[in-house]
Amino acid sequence: MSLSNTHFSYGTVTKSFHWITALLILSIIPLGLVANHLAQDIKNVNVPTTDADIAFAATLFSMHKTLGLTVFFIALARILWTIRETQPHPLNAKNRLEATAAETVHWLLYGSLVAVPLTGWIHHAATTGFAPIWWPFGQNLPFVPKDESVAEIFTKIHWILFLVMGATLLAHIGGAMKHFVIDRDFTLQRMLPGFGSGPETDATTHGPAPIIVAVAVWAAALGGGIYLGDFDTHASGPSAEKLAEVQSDWQVQDGTLTIDVNWTAAITFDEPERPGPAGVVNVTVSIPSLTLGTVTDQAMTPDFFDVDQFPTATFDADILKTDTGYTATGPLTIKGKSVPITLPFELDINGNAAHMTGTVEVNRLDFNVGQSMRDEASVAFAIVINIVLTATRSE
Ligand code: HEM
Ligand code: HEM
Repeated sequence: MSLSNTHFSYGTVTKSFHWITALLILSIIPLGLVANHLAQDIKNVNVPTTDADIAFAATLFSMHKTLGLTVFFIALARILWTIRETQPHPLNAKNRLEATAAETVHWLLYGSLVAVPLTGWIHHAATTGFAPIWWPFGQNLPFVPKDESVAEIFTKIHWILFLVMGATLLAHIGGAMKHFVIDRDFTLQRMLPGFGSGPETDATTHGPAPIIVAVAVWAAALGGGIYLGDFDTHASGPSAEKLAEVQSDWQVQDGTLTIDVNWTAAITFDEPERPGPAGVVNVTVSIPSLTLGTVTDQAMTPDFFDVDQFPTATFDADILKTDTGYTATGPLTIKGKSVPITLPFELDINGNAAHMTGTVEVNRLDFNVGQSMRDEASVAFAIVINIVLTATRSE
């Protein structure tokens, strides 16, 4: 059997490219769908998941990505090969519409073999994912920034282009079956290993119609993907929670909670002579105003702070003067979960101005923050909250 195609047969190289790709694609699709389904479950706090589930999902995703990139590079080689190859004449040339549709489908499949893995790859490079590509060439792409909104848009495009690919494949496989079962011609057989030439037919020319239709389908899909991606980030993106004005004896002049957030504090405080109760403090933090550099968007997701459900965090504490300094003891509420904490702090009062410094360490898992990251490889369990603030007493 010849390596190359003729006008009436497919050669071994084209057949090998075709069936290796078909096998890979038909594995990659279920891997992507199942892994994504598992990932949704892991992100959903109402679905109990174990460390084994997380490891399993990561393995499926790594397989999906690695096989996907294998398809990508095979597709590039296949396209280069096909450009200089003879194309066998269609066996149903008399049915011009059907023959044109078949050629359009082939263009769409070639395009999908490049565009679908490429958009998955860009999504992977833009996000700080936990399932690596199993290869030694790194996980990033030059020119692709680490940016969750880029990742979000490319997730949508990956999905939309996959829908185009899936629908095209159904038409393609359906067409092959029609040739075999209804037309009973040699179209399917001549693509199978071991079969040679089909009947000799005349060449047909369809003009540029197939490629124009294919490009129009991609443009529509891409436009829809970008629109949906943008729409999603903008429409569901958290708007900064407006914090109500608070009445307080002490007005905070400046201060930090280590990370940059919008927050208010109501403080009632009277310096007692002896150790004992000294007042109360109520701190409210606007979670949507939290900025954490490039991972800010990720921090807002249900897996982390779930900003849509829980737009504020609070700390309501009693202040106690101790022998050595002060403590603020009370529930810290993040993501609807309250954990009692004690914040030791130092206080310098100078007339009507007070300067406070304190540090406390909390475990993010106590607040269901970053549940899918149950080891400390990506995000440490301990979060250190450093508080430095200056307040002045209201007149
Ligand atoms: C021909 C190759 C590929 C096909 C047919 C394909 C198809 C799919 C499908 C069907 C899904 C499930 C989408 C969902 O349920 O929402 C998916 C998800 C995904 N794929 Fe691919 N994929 C391919 C290549 C790649 C490559 C090369 C990468 C990365 C290097 C990749 C990364 C991803 C990621 C990260 C997701 C999850 C997206 C999310 O978080 O919503 N894919 N893919
Ligand atoms: C069970 C699955 C599949 C069957 C039964 C099948 C069948 C066929 C047949 C019979 C042909 C020859 C058509 C002709 O001579 O006009 C063909 C060609 C082709 N198929 Fe498939 N196919 C399958 C899967 C796929 C997949 C997964 C892809 C890529 C995503 C694909 C891409 C192509 C392309 C691009 C051609 C044009 C010939 C070439 O340049 O290789 N096929 N297929």
